Amino acid sequence: MIGEIYEVDDIGLAFEPTAKPVPAEERARLLADPGFGRVFTDHMAFIEYDEKEGWHDARITARHPFTMDPASPVLHYAQEIFEGLKAYRRPDGAAALFRPEANARRFAKSAVRMAMPPLPVDMFLDSVRGLVRADREWIPATEDGSLYLRPFMIANGSFLGVRPSTQFIYAVIASSVGAYFKGNTPSVSLWVTREYVRAAPGGTGEAKCGGNYAGSLAAQAEAIRNGCDQVVFLDAIERRWVEELGGMNIFFVFDDGSIQTPPLAGTILHGVTRDSLLTLARNMGLMVREEPYSIEQWKSDAESGRLTEAFACGTAAVVTPIGSVKGVDGGFTIGGQSSGPLTLRLRSALVDIQRGDAPDPYGWTEIV
Ligand SMILES: Cc1ncc(COP(=O)(O)O)c(C=O)c1O
Repeated sequence: MIGEIYEVDDIGLAFEPTAKPVPAEERARLLADPGFGRVFTDHMAFIEYDEKEGWHDARITARHPFTMDPASPVLHYAQEIFEGLKAYRRPDGAAALFRPEANARRFAKSAVRMAMPPLPVDMFLDSVRGLVRADREWIPATEDGSLYLRPFMIANGSFLGVRPSTQFIYAVIASSVGAYFKGNTPSVSLWVTREYVRAAPGGTGEAKCGGNYAGSLAAQAEAIRNGCDQVVFLDAIERRWVEELGGMNIFFVFDDGSIQTPPLAGTILHGVTRDSLLTLARNMGLMVREEPYSIEQWKSDAESGRLTEAFACGTAAVVTPIGSVKGVDGGFTIGGQSSGPLTLRLRSALVDIQRGDAPDPYGWTEIV
């Protein structure tokens, strides 16, 4: 039996509380050591779309499995997009979202690229806020803990022709998470794949669509086979310009105190963390370059000591130092293979704002 239904905001997002919430003691046990992406909360946001009604039946409801026709286009042609953002527990117990409008805008852009109806920014924001309000008890109180929110949209229907669907499901699920990399790793090792590319000009690299990630899995498996933690991709044309990791952007730090990251030239994801770190670095007075960087230059700078640090960044992994890089033609190490001073400084500046331990002059955080 569905509980009380009430309007929580002006898009008419209904709230149907779950009839079977996880008992508080069980939740506390799960939150003590949640890992990443395996503990899920009680509720989900759900909105449906069809050509006649547009977006309709927006609700926060009990987390539940989907029933789909086996001819649903998402199952065959991967017409699917997603997002990833976090809610943090504040020192005063409040929940705060970090730059949710940036994710809402990127989601709408991804939708357009994948021939899907863009979800209005307000609907995205209300769905995420509504879910955080319903499940705020699921934000872990641990130091690295947060509530990872996964909005996604899939093409629904029943047909096998290759064409855009006219029916879609948008949903948001939430997962209580700890650190992305297990065991407080001081740094990660990267494998430079020569066999695979992630994205090509004109392709879908800039969209956050499931296909990009399916296509990266063989390269990630190659990295693991070669004893590395993560794969790093080079550009598709010259196969020499460093682009990004499977799920993180990349930064380089030099001995003159400057930092560099590959430019947003159509094939890499416009990371919200990347953008935030660029702003923080510029406001710290650092020299910042958004310019291509080749794998040969990276090796030579690491060996000469001109490059002192490198790190990967993203919502899930936050800021993670890169300790070593390996490929078919050999490898090299970076600095002391642990967090360098600038990596630490940028990481703290970001995390302190996200968690409410420092003032937020940018208006990035939103108390929910
Ligand atoms: C391919 C890729 N690059 C970069 C990022 C980092 O983006 P953000 O900082 O918005 O999480 C992600 C994660 O979403 C990603 O999947």
